[in-house]
Amino acid sequence: MQVLLREQQWAAHLRAKTREGLESTPPWIPPVWFYDEVGSQLFDEITRLPEYYPTDAERSILRQYADEIVALADVDTFVELGAGSSEKTRLLLDAGVRHGRLERVVPVDCSESFLASCSADLANAFPSLAVQGVVADFTSHLGQLVHSDRRMVMFMGSTIGNFDPEDRAAFLRDIAADQGPGDCFLLGTDLVKGTDRLLAAYDDAQGVTARFNRNALTVMNRQLDADFDVTAFRHRAWWDAERARVQMHLVATRDTGATIRAFDDLRVEFAADEYLLTEYSTKFTAAQVEAELAEVGLAVAGSWTDPNGDFLLTLARGA
Ligand code: AVI
Repeated sequence: MQVLLREQQWAAHLRAKTREGLESTPPWIPPVWFYDEVGSQLFDEITRLPEYYPTDAERSILRQYADEIVALADVDTFVELGAGSSEKTRLLLDAGVRHGRLERVVPVDCSESFLASCSADLANAFPSLAVQGVVADFTSHLGQLVHSDRRMVMFMGSTIGNFDPEDRAAFLRDIAADQGPGDCFLLGTDLVKGTDRLLAAYDDAQGVTARFNRNALTVMNRQLDADFDVTAFRHRAWWDAERARVQMHLVATRDTGATIRAFDDLRVEFAADEYLLTEYSTKFTAAQVEAELAEVGLAVAGSWTDPNGDFLLTLARGA
């Protein structure tokens, strides 16, 4: 396993971002605080909720089209940003093995322990492939990842929707700059749809997303030595039609405040109804994905949706 990102360096980066967010008006935090062990389990539960369609939709595209995608990509190396040992990744790997050209898979993740277990699982399941995990922050280490003449860089699950527009544009620019002539980029994006379905997906009847959202406060309390009163916040999902994104908020149900000891006792105050922004989940149209890729010099080589037209996978190459 290659380590480009040291745990301390990553922690320092996250702390700086979080402090910047908490000192902003309105305050925000990077969504990374969702994903401790409990939060990762809750996210896993979210992906199985009846209201949360993106995971099933992306899986159904891969079930139907993995062979076509892999044939069009025709690469010897998969680089998966945000490593997944999930069934979805495996559908592409199975297709890669069937296609016969695939030699290597490079899962990339910021968590060394997660990457180690995920790489081991992949190595067991795909003995014919070299599994070369890289601990990295894919927003800053793209240029240092494994290169071959023919790579498919994969960014699935609509994680790109969680970036703000500036970070998204910068990320796509970096992806494009890193693409060699035989490379391609596979991007998963969630598509715009009716507000009711979108909001239900982010505010499910069982309250799993609410628990996932509030868990970010528990994680910050533990890791930043803070004292947010988790019971003083309620979950809210809100559709910003102009920016085409669901925003997740934690809304104060009464006047409340917290001291963040890791940030020199930084104090944040919330009057009742004020909120902390915890996540953007941007939704796209196929035309917008194509335009944003074209903006950085990437052309669409193929695109696939599920039967409901909920989700989009796009394969792009340097124009
Ligand atoms: C990880 N990401 C793509 C999820 C999404 O749908 O934006 C995170 C999530 N937040 C609430 N539910 C799921």
